[in-house]
Amino acid sequence: MKYIKDQENLNGKTILLRLDLNVPLKNRVITDETRINKILPIINFLIQNKAKIIVISHVGRPKGKTSNNLSLKPICENIENKINIKIKLIKENIFKLKKNDLFINPQDQLFFLENIRFYEEEEKNDIIFSEKLSKLADIYVNDAFSCSHRAHASVSNITKFIPSFAGLQLQTEINALKKVTSEIKKPISCIIGGSKISTKIGLIKNLIPKFDNIILAGGMANNILKFKGYSIGKSIREDNCDETIDEIFRFAKIHSCSIIFPEDVAVGKNMDDLAKIKNINDVINDDIILDIGPKTIKKIKEIIDSSKTILWNGPMGYFENSNFANGSFEIGKKIVEKNKKNLIYSVAGGGDTIAVLNQLGALNDFDFVSTAGGAFLEYLEGKELPGIKALS
Ligand code: 3PG
Repeated sequence: MKYIKDQENLNGKTILLRLDLNVPLKNRVITDETRINKILPIINFLIQNKAKIIVISHVGRPKGKTSNNLSLKPICENIENKINIKIKLIKENIFKLKKNDLFINPQDQLFFLENIRFYEEEEKNDIIFSEKLSKLADIYVNDAFSCSHRAHASVSNITKFIPSFAGLQLQTEINALKKVTSEIKKPISCIIGGSKISTKIGLIKNLIPKFDNIILAGGMANNILKFKGYSIGKSIREDNCDETIDEIFRFAKIHSCSIIFPEDVAVGKNMDDLAKIKNINDVINDDIILDIGPKTIKKIKEIIDSSKTILWNGPMGYFENSNFANGSFEIGKKIVEKNKKNLIYSVAGGGDTIAVLNQLGALNDFDFVSTAGGAFLEYLEGKELPGIKALS
C-alpha cells in the first residue's frame, strides 16, 4: 500500500479524496461531528501541500435516488467554518463533468461532489462510473476506512484507473486495529448493537471462534428473539435470517462462546414515545423494542466485569430519543469505570457508538475509538476489506 503522507510534490495536483462523511443528521442538522473532525488533518495536509481537492463521500442510504435530506450541503458548511476555506458543492451530473471545468478560478481549492450514493452506479461498483470519476483528477486517496468494507465504485474499482494512496486516518485506523488484534487479552467480549442488521448478522458466525462472549442488542437482537419464538411486535428486523441464526447458535456451542441477548426490554408505541419496561415474554403486537431493560443491563455489566477486553460496536437501543438511551449509557459508563481502573482494554467503533460516547463525554476514556462500524467488525473477522485490497 502506498501512503499519501510519503508523497512529495503534490503541488498543483488534483486529488480525488474519498472520505466517510456519513454523519448522523436530524432534519439536516448534524448531531455528531466526530467523523468530520477526524478528516480535517487530511484536508489540511493536502492544502498545505498546495494540492487541489475533489471530495467524494456518501451520507445515508439514498439507494441511487437524489434526496434533499441527504445532501452534503450541511456537511460542507460545517467543514467550511472549521477550515475557513470556501467549498463548492457540485450538484451537476458527474457523467457531464469534465476535469477542465473545475478549478478554473485560481482561488478554488476545494470541491465536493454531491452525495455519491445519489448514483446507483456507486453501490454497483460500476466500472464505467469508476473510470469517469478517476478522469476528474491525477491522484486518488482513500481516507475512508469506515466504508472500505464496501465494494463500491468510489472505494474499489476506481483504483484500477488512477494512482491510488491510503490517507492519514485510514493509516491510523489500520495500525491501531492491527495492534488491538495482535495484543488482545482474554476473556474477550464483543457487544454488537445498532440498527444495521443486514450488515452485521452474517459476520457474527466468523467472530464466534475469536470471542468468549458475544452480546447482541439493538436491531439484531430482535431477529434472535423472534427466532427463539418471542413476539417482537413492530420492532425492526431482517427477513430470512433464521438459517444464519441457527448456525450462530450451533457454532457458538462448538467454540464455547456464549451468545447473550435481551431478557427484558424497553418498548414504545412509536419512536417518540416514553419507555415502558417489559419482560421479553410480555411484548405485544403494537410494541416497538427500543432499548434493553434493567435485567439485561445487569447481566451485561457482569460480563464486562469478568472480561479483560471489550469491543463495542453499535448502541443498545434508539438512543436518539433520550427515553431509550439508558441501556447504551449504562453500558458505556460501566466500560469507562473499568477502563479508568486499568482493568480492561476497551475499543469502540461506529458512527452511532461514537455519538453515544460523545453524549457521555467518554470519547477519550476508551483505549481506542474507530470511526468504523461495519468495517471495524469485518476487519476483526480477519477479512480483507475491498477498499484496502484495492489500494494494495
Ligand atoms: C458507516 O457508517 O459504517 C459507513 O459510512 C458505511 O455506511 P453503510 O453501512 O451505509 O454502507
